Amino acid sequence: MEKKTYYITTPIYYPSDRLHIGHSYCTVVCDALARFKRMQGYDVMFLTGTDEHGMKIEQKAKAAGVTPKQYVDKIVDGIHVLWDLMNITNDRFIRTTDDYHVAATQRIFRTLYDKGEIYKGTYKGKYCTPCESFWTESQLLNGGCPDCGRPVEDAEEEAYFFRLSAYADRLMQLYADNPNFIFPESRKNEMINNFIKPGLEDLCVSRTSFTWGIPVDFDPGHVVYVWVDALSNYITALGYENDRYNDFKRYWPADLHMVGKEITRFHSIIWPALLMALDLPLPKMVFGHGWLLMGDGKMSKSKGNVVDPEVLARRYGVDALRYFLLREFPLGSDGVFSNELLISRINSDLANDLGNLVSRTVSMVERYFDGAIPQNRQAEESDQGLIDMLNKLRAGVESHMDKLSPQSALMDIFAVISRANKYIDENSPWLLIKDEASHPRLAQVLYNLLEAIRVSAILLNAFIPESCETILAQIGQDAAQLESLEAACYRADLNYDAVKKTGNLFPRIDLQKELAELDRMKEEAAAAAEKAPEKTAEKVPEKTADKADQPEQPKMISIDDFMDMQLIVCKVLDCQPVKKSDKLLLFKLDDGSGTPRQIVSGIAAWYKPETLIGKKVVAVTNLKPVKLRGELSQGMILSADSGFDADGNELVTLIELDPAIPVGSRIR
Ligand code: ME8
Repeated sequence: MEKKTYYITTPIYYPSDRLHIGHSYCTVVCDALARFKRMQGYDVMFLTGTDEHGMKIEQKAKAAGVTPKQYVDKIVDGIHVLWDLMNITNDRFIRTTDDYHVAATQRIFRTLYDKGEIYKGTYKGKYCTPCESFWTESQLLNGGCPDCGRPVEDAEEEAYFFRLSAYADRLMQLYADNPNFIFPESRKNEMINNFIKPGLEDLCVSRTSFTWGIPVDFDPGHVVYVWVDALSNYITALGYENDRYNDFKRYWPADLHMVGKEITRFHSIIWPALLMALDLPLPKMVFGHGWLLMGDGKMSKSKGNVVDPEVLARRYGVDALRYFLLREFPLGSDGVFSNELLISRINSDLANDLGNLVSRTVSMVERYFDGAIPQNRQAEESDQGLIDMLNKLRAGVESHMDKLSPQSALMDIFAVISRANKYIDENSPWLLIKDEASHPRLAQVLYNLLEAIRVSAILLNAFIPESCETILAQIGQDAAQLESLEAACYRADLNYDAVKKTGNLFPRIDLQKELAELDRMKEEAAAAAEKAPEKTAEKVPEKTADKADQPEQPKMISIDDFMDMQLIVCKVLDCQPVKKSDKLLLFKLDDGSGTPRQIVSGIAAWYKPETLIGKKVVAVTNLKPVKLRGELSQGMILSADSGFDADGNELVTLIELDPAIPVGSRIR
């Protein structure tokens, strides 16, 4: 039988700034939903990408002295690194500057024109440059953009219009026939009362005042309105009107467009109307999720309160951050983010509950039974409570995930984890070990705990995948169980004979110390920003900023800080490209320890892997390990930023050492 398909999309992100934790929120939620659907046996297509055209990008590129394409290329590289770091399993990544998308969007525009759905007229109105949005006078809020509140500009020009006004009745019918088309319900009321009832106006869908967009191929000088270009990504990425892909029939219509609440309007009014005009089936659901706020308003670089997901993920671990984003806030509502909330959640759920359950159980199995549960076990009536909970867990979690509530799913799983911790205390294994006659009972208690851990790990896999692999490894179970929900039920007949602790899953964070350290970091950043006021208005991502363009603000560190860093001379034993990545190389290094060290390095653009074998390089060996494109990276290989080539592309040179220096030598 053919698998059922599931097509899920995130918005495509503007590459005009460092993605903050709010952007990661939507992508992590979609990733968990996509992973869970795969585990349910669906044939999933998970799409994300970048929305790269528009006046704003054109202006920023000009200010940076590069072409718009050069400007976006660098930022998009950084976005790939972030999604890799966050373990995002998107099946496809679309850039609106991709040739196939450009050509397909031109065809879509032309089809709409040929059908009379688009006509030429004169645009008079207001334009909000930061939001790339046209507004009529009546839509303005206190004279400013109703989305962001910023001032709007008068605009008048010859332009093409889409007959959006003709679609009000069909949209109302769509919402009536499909109560879940816009979710949550409150957003649907907003769409009807604020936009459709006051009267839909035709939508201006071309611009002539800038050139960084998709040209209207039958009318030079016009570029396609950035939202028509952007929304089309959901179908061009499947192969609609292009032959780059051939998945349109298989996956369209989308099952879920996950979007932030402020862009629900584009997805639930303009997008379905465009699809109706093209005679295409309509997506099944637009979910407008809430925002992560920072106490005093929406997270935004211009309010100076962006929280960097890369910094947080590297400090606390990718899974800790993923868990927090999925567990802390109900998806439809806004939530106030704070570092204290993040750390407290990590400590209470991951370190105390899950971490403790795994650590206590695994240690006891090692200590009492040398890592192998004996076959002679004695079950008792009192075990049934825990076993029943385990057997019901999968259905409950599936039901929550079907209702798009990862938070409730996680609450259910953690209720079982708490129950299992209580089961330890109720059965006091430390007393059972003392009496030989109680050893079969002890074996059963520990067996049940391992089952609680195994079932929970399978059900947690969509949320915190890396940790679940580690957990299964610690309890000596095959990681293949994580691929499907099938194994998520209590089994009485498993062998647990290779239980082994390999480290602390989620170390407890000292809240006060950590908050003080974060304050220190913030103060430092603020001081640096004060010294360079011209850079505070618009922060370009560190990774991708034009370094030559920025005054250096080196952070001073103490000699102790430096000595904490282990810089080790390594020899390259092997070097291969990383699958599905044109940026990364996978190194196997001899670091003198006797065990080869694996490091993923982003230098594929500059080096052929086979030319690096045998070279002596410098590796930082005490960086927290991370996974990049599924490959474990245990450190970092040093290279130098070496300026730019004639086309403005960044150059990087690997630091090579004198072959005479012995492997394993410390550099200081
Ligand atoms: O809107 N909390 O791109 P974008 C939660 N290119 N979500 C947030 C957030 C926060 N603090 N800040 C931003 C665009 N987002 C268009 C999309 S789709 C055809 C085109 C969410 O980079 C925001 O709500 O400004 C939106 O859904 C997404 O990040 C992308 O925002």
